[in-house]
Amino acid sequence: MTWEVSKLLKAEHGKLELKKFPDSEYYVKVGTRVKGREVAIIASTRTSDDLMQLFLTLDAVRGAGARMVHTVVPYLPYMRQDKVFTDGEALSARLILKILDEASDDITVVNAHFLDDAGRNTFHGVTIRNLDATPLLAEYFRDKAGKPFVIAPDAGSLQYAKRAAHYLDCDFNHLQKKRVSGEDVIIRDKTIPAAGKDIIILDDIISTGGTIVNACRVIRSWKPASISVGCVHGLFICKGIESFNTVVDRLVCTNTLETPISKVSVAGLVSRDLKSQ
Ligand code: R5P
Repeated sequence: MTWEVSKLLKAEHGKLELKKFPDSEYYVKVGTRVKGREVAIIASTRTSDDLMQLFLTLDAVRGAGARMVHTVVPYLPYMRQDKVFTDGEALSARLILKILDEASDDITVVNAHFLDDAGRNTFHGVTIRNLDATPLLAEYFRDKAGKPFVIAPDAGSLQYAKRAAHYLDCDFNHLQKKRVSGEDVIIRDKTIPAAGKDIIILDDIISTGGTIVNACRVIRSWKPASISVGCVHGLFICKGIESFNTVVDRLVCTNTLETPISKVSVAGLVSRDLKSQ
């Protein structure tokens, strides 16, 4: 996606040297002259290691004298721990954002898990620009669903279903989900009039896939014409993408993380955001 954004902005695509030492520490060196220049770091961060590489890259770019550093992290990990749910827990989202804030001039993310509103948001004193990929996913499904009906797998994702339904001019609803463990969820009984409809399930993240697989099983029992699933960030950590084939007719995600089904690009969204800075 970085190449696509560079092309859209007609910007130089910089070079980085990245090495891993035997003790697993990283070494990062900027390979392009950045002194006095405006630089955007677009990072694909799936893991804690990726975040560490990003922190070092930001430090290297700043240290090499960049005039302005924009940080774009389309999928920002650790955003699900945005509260201290029980005493003694780390507030992960706050720490990660504070480090990024310290190391760059501004931060752009795509559909940060804990943010409902697109645009400028503030979280514990850190300003974040939150881009919304829901309209892009809705557009992807426009000519693929004759009788669309959008369903969110839980109340938290209702905002995505609502916005997509608005774009597609159709009805929407949400299921009720109870998380039992990191990998297991229960979709509670609730009946939605889905028979004969082309169901589009929208969520921000597919991680283990437990949410989507269980949601599809419940929805399938209502005899829909088809079930399509769209998500912004496809992590697919436990179940491989193929394992969805038995429950879903169509599965797509954006390229905030590159996957074989990243058919919806957020490059236009990101480049417009950078252009507006
Ligand atoms: C949860 O609040 C999110 O919106 C997703 O539903 C969740 O992260 C999906 O996780 P998994 O694929 O592991 O069920």
